[in-house]
Amino acid sequence: MNGLKLLGAGYALPTRVLTNDDMAGYVETSDEWITTRTGIRQRYFCAEGETTTTLAIEAARRAMADAGMAKEDIGCVIVATSSGEYAMPSTACLVHKALELPEGIPVFDLGAACAGFLYALDTARAMLLAHGGKAALVIGAEQMSSLLDMADRNTCVLFGDAAGAAVFAPADAEYAYVCGTRGDMAIEVGGPRRSLPMTMEGQNVFRFAVSTIPATVQALLEAGGKTLEDVDWVICHQANRRIIDASVRHLGVPADKFYKNLDRYANTSAASIPLALAEMKESGKLVSGQRVILVGFGGGLTWAGIMMTI
Ligand code: ACO
Repeated sequence: MNGLKLLGAGYALPTRVLTNDDMAGYVETSDEWITTRTGIRQRYFCAEGETTTTLAIEAARRAMADAGMAKEDIGCVIVATSSGEYAMPSTACLVHKALELPEGIPVFDLGAACAGFLYALDTARAMLLAHGGKAALVIGAEQMSSLLDMADRNTCVLFGDAAGAAVFAPADAEYAYVCGTRGDMAIEVGGPRRSLPMTMEGQNVFRFAVSTIPATVQALLEAGGKTLEDVDWVICHQANRRIIDASVRHLGVPADKFYKNLDRYANTSAASIPLALAEMKESGKLVSGQRVILVGFGGGLTWAGIMMTI
């Protein structure tokens, strides 16, 4: 048994919705510019009392309920985040407390920006294989709005807040993983514990993303001995519709094989892939037995890909 099976998934969104027109109240921008350059139409930002922690807890509760999982069966909890509420305790410890999960299991946060959920998923798999355990609770949760300079139009229109969570069990199933890092391209900077807002070299990230997604997809297909025709869904980190469209063109596959929801949520960093998984499962688009490719990329720069059957 060296793969994983998705038992359940859930997501959580804050209550405050900001349209592109709302963003034009903060910076000189327009619905037309944001929609054409990114495909984003709206995003959710945390309101008073909503944080990375509250979103992570809500998404985790829903994933546990969807999985029908007893809390005693959880063997590890990992929260992928770059916007945890506290330096310590970790967001994962706060989820552990809220859900009254068992003692004697590893519970921690992992930071790899928008690739974080896939780093976390592969880490959880390794821990389950090494130490046993019936299932892992893996979460991506972000309050990106807490990192943004609302006067910087280069960044503030691109991001949103959300959490997605999934419960995975070890399974005798196929599994391929690739990842990478370009520390020498550390061009995105989140301020030290939010005393500085994040900055970004958008065009460099764009170029990096449009080459990394197809290369990662190809590497996974080669590793697993498959072609794209064998794959039901490619679920990429949701940063920009043009990045996904360029990857579709490069790979020469039907566009509807790539899931897209960034028009509604914008870029939710580590939350975007589990949010997509949970939303697709809820709507019936994602069903047991399908083969999916997941691709994350982002600040660091980091990237990762997983091909697995759900
Ligand atoms: N509204 C209006 N104009 C804007 C805005 C805005 N919100 N933002 C930038 N502009 C202006 C720029 O100032 C520039 O004006 P100038 O020509 O007078 O200098 C003009 O629009 C064009 O800017 P470009 O940077 O060339 O625009 P581009 O087409 O490259 O799109 C974008 C910019 C959307 C940022 C794109 O490069 C992109 O999506 N990059 C990837 C970013 C990304 O996904 N980062 C996240 C990775 S995940 C993570 O690590 C958290």
